[in-house]
Amino acid sequence: MADNRIRVAVVGASGYTGGELVRLLLEHPRVELAFLSAERAAGAAVGAVHPWLRNHPRAAGLTLRPLAELAQAGPVDIAFGCLPTGTLPERLPLIAENAKRVLNLGGDFRLRDAEQIRTHYPRTAAHPPLEEFAYYIPELSPVVPDSRFVSLPGCMAVSTIYALHPLFAGPEPLVADRVIVDAKTGSTGGGRGSGEPPAERTGNFRVHKLYGHRHAPEIRQALADLSGASVDLRFSTHSLDVARGIMVTAYSELRDGVTALDVKRAYARAYVGRPFVRVRPAPKAPQDFPMLKAVVGSNVAEVALAVRDGQCVTVAALDNLIKGAAGQAIQAMNLISGFAETAGLPTTAVSP
Ligand SMILES: NC(=O)c1ccc[n+]([C@@H]2O[C@H](COP(=O)([O-])OP(=O)(O)OC[C@H]3O[C@@H](n4cnc5c(N)ncnc54)[C@H](OP(=O)(O)O)[C@@H]3O)[C@@H](O)[C@H]2O)c1
Repeated sequence: MADNRIRVAVVGASGYTGGELVRLLLEHPRVELAFLSAERAAGAAVGAVHPWLRNHPRAAGLTLRPLAELAQAGPVDIAFGCLPTGTLPERLPLIAENAKRVLNLGGDFRLRDAEQIRTHYPRTAAHPPLEEFAYYIPELSPVVPDSRFVSLPGCMAVSTIYALHPLFAGPEPLVADRVIVDAKTGSTGGGRGSGEPPAERTGNFRVHKLYGHRHAPEIRQALADLSGASVDLRFSTHSLDVARGIMVTAYSELRDGVTALDVKRAYARAYVGRPFVRVRPAPKAPQDFPMLKAVVGSNVAEVALAVRDGQCVTVAALDNLIKGAAGQAIQAMNLISGFAETAGLPTTAVSP
């Protein structure tokens, strides 16, 4: 393998986000896939577990191995954590011993409040991290983290953060009061191990959680960290009958005197020069607004807003497995490693 490639491990490579990381990293010019873990699928070829990868020439020799064999692969530069929530903390010492950095896609170490951690991540509460994890959103975090351990945002959390952050980013929030968010997600959001019967999803659109979703405290924490705002957030989630994609609609009451132009400028300012968060200019027709078919397959999040009668309705859409997970993680890796931010990342969607 060429010298200018970094060695990468994907821990949980038989799952949906791990598989997507493998798919994208196979095309990455600066990455060697050094180790891919699975437990139930250990011993299988990558192309057997993810048939959509079996014709890639670099996938031919790749086999999934139990995490316990990580040391045999030799040290890696980056290990991506793609394990179910609560599973990584116990395995972190082994991973940290063999990896210079850990980028975790799971929620284990995103929250800081001990009570919230006990409520939403009870298995994590029993295993405090070896060192603090830096929470990192490439477009919004003020600096590229140099810590060994990095937490990437949750998929519905980051969709909502992209939708709301500009309203709170200025010296004064543009919003007067409570923000109501309605998030809708595709079935891959639950992971390959979710066990949800397809017949209950197909042809259906139903509530996932009206209250108490674990991404709500993450959104509040991130918005507070980014802008100092204490956001009165109501957050409900629903299950869509699609494999991939998240769409978020956020309803905010604007402060007296805030104009549509103020809001448009705030969104333009927040994402200027960022290749993967695109604010839709002046949407009018339904197809001008963010939609799943414009983002699924890409690392792009689309955002748009409409202001009327003192209310701002913001819509955001992204692919939960790419911009909400694997693509976001690669974008973070690129920036942390000094590569081009866009390396190995798709900007066009797959449709129809
Ligand atoms: N799905 C999404 O849209 C999304 C988006 C953002 C973040 N995330 C987060 O990313 C993480 C992975 O999600 P996912 O959807 O990819 O899950 P998934 O499809 O269920 O995959 C889980 C992976 O972890 C492995 N695994 C399960 N139990 C394990 C254990 N006890 N020890 C070691 N490996 C184990 C599985 O391997 P075997 O089955 O072969 O044992 C599989 O490779 C989760 O923390 C999730 O919250 C998911």
